[in-house]
Amino acid sequence: MSLDIVILAAGQGTRMRSALPKVLHPVAGKSMLGHVIDTARALQPQSIQVVIGHGAEQVRQRLAGEDLNYVVQAEQLGTGHAVAQALPNLSAERVLILYGDVPLIEADTLQRLLQKVGPEQLALLTVKLDDPTGYGRIVRDARGEVQAIVEHKDASDEQKAIREGNTGILAVPGSRIGEWLGRLSNSNAQGEYYLTDVIAMAVADGLRVATEQPLDAMEVQGANDRIQLAELERHYQQRAARRLMARGVTLRDPARFDLRGEVEVGRDVLIDVNVVLEGTVVIEDDVQIGPNCVIKDSTLRRGAIVKANSHLEGAVVGESADCGPFARLRPGSVLGAKAHVGNFVELKNATLGDGAKAGHLSYLGDAEIGARTNIGAGTITCNYDGANKFRTVMGEDVFIGSNSSLVAPLNLGDGATTGAGSTITEDVPAHTLGLGRGRQRNIEGWQRPKKQS
Ligand code: UD1
Ligand code: CA
Repeated sequence: MSLDIVILAAGQGTRMRSALPKVLHPVAGKSMLGHVIDTARALQPQSIQVVIGHGAEQVRQRLAGEDLNYVVQAEQLGTGHAVAQALPNLSAERVLILYGDVPLIEADTLQRLLQKVGPEQLALLTVKLDDPTGYGRIVRDARGEVQAIVEHKDASDEQKAIREGNTGILAVPGSRIGEWLGRLSNSNAQGEYYLTDVIAMAVADGLRVATEQPLDAMEVQGANDRIQLAELERHYQQRAARRLMARGVTLRDPARFDLRGEVEVGRDVLIDVNVVLEGTVVIEDDVQIGPNCVIKDSTLRRGAIVKANSHLEGAVVGESADCGPFARLRPGSVLGAKAHVGNFVELKNATLGDGAKAGHLSYLGDAEIGARTNIGAGTITCNYDGANKFRTVMGEDVFIGSNSSLVAPLNLGDGATTGAGSTITEDVPAHTLGLGRGRQRNIEGWQRPKKQS
């Protein structure tokens, strides 16, 4: 059966106290609306309609997509009015309503809900709550059949005692929704067109309302302020941590782990505390990541070790290679197998061949460094003249003396050596020593200046 999805995202979110529209606030590095859109996509609908209002332009720009159709609700007159704005674009047999500020809803839960909707049946996602204050209440008859939803502000004391709340998420037959929305009125406590009034209309028309529940109540939790946003974030992270552990990762403390993107993990991976993974990260078997590392859009090959306080972005750490503590691998950094990058070393657009080493205090930018080459402490590639960038290319088994300045463009052949403290401005052929420094002279009997007492 075909499916249209309508995501309501027009509300202002005053309590966020923010210039950013509420649905653009991030959970795990991705906007709440972005999460909902991704989940909607997983259901393979024929269309996704996003109803926007407050901050409409910002939302549209930030989350452009060929498969998204934005509908503007100029005035927020209620959830029923919001869905009605999308009506002209709906043609599927089933319509599913989602909320842009309820980001943790799972595709599995929605699949279960969708199994229950049909031409003669609505499907409503409900949740049992200890404190249902603020929620619409699910009113059932003596046989337990859903009769209506009554909003908190319109509920009698008896209805307020009902603990089954409306999550807001529901699926309805596409052939009927237009007619029901057309009949909504706003004569209620809030003066709004309630989507929830559709339930009683459907029942009056002889349809049945089936219900389904999320596995976890946090799936249907919305974020109205930054406190709730933080709760959603923590919940998301706990879920992510549990999933990784289930796949064979040791997290030293699952409460101190953050995933802001996608990660693919192998077995027997060890992740110490306060590690943040961002973007798309691939971690192969037996990798170890020390505490306080940020790893973004990077690949860590089998047995790689990233030591404490390292920052990686767009990097590849080769098999059994290691980096850190305090390594900075910027985009285009590629470490070969068993390569070693030590403390306070920065790489950018630089390849370190198999077994090559840069142990201490270096900047290697726009460089290609051959296998087993050793970069002495304090070595700098001078790759930038203020306008242009130049490359430094080194062969295999090169030895760069400590504190060398390598003024690019530069080629150093296999087995070349540079003397410590050299400023190298010309190519060094293979198996040759390049020295570029002042010669030392010793002055005998030199008297140091004395202080006048
Ligand atoms: C709604 C439900 C309530 C349910 C609760 C769950 C109705 C009438 N009530 O109440 O039964 O328990 O959600 O959280 O549906 N929105 C628009 N345009 C509008 C109004 C709202 O896009 O004109 C969007 C909001 O941005 C928000 C969502 O719809 O994402 C829900 O609106 P909100 O005003 O928060 O509904 P509630 O009063 O919480
Ligand atoms: Ca709400």
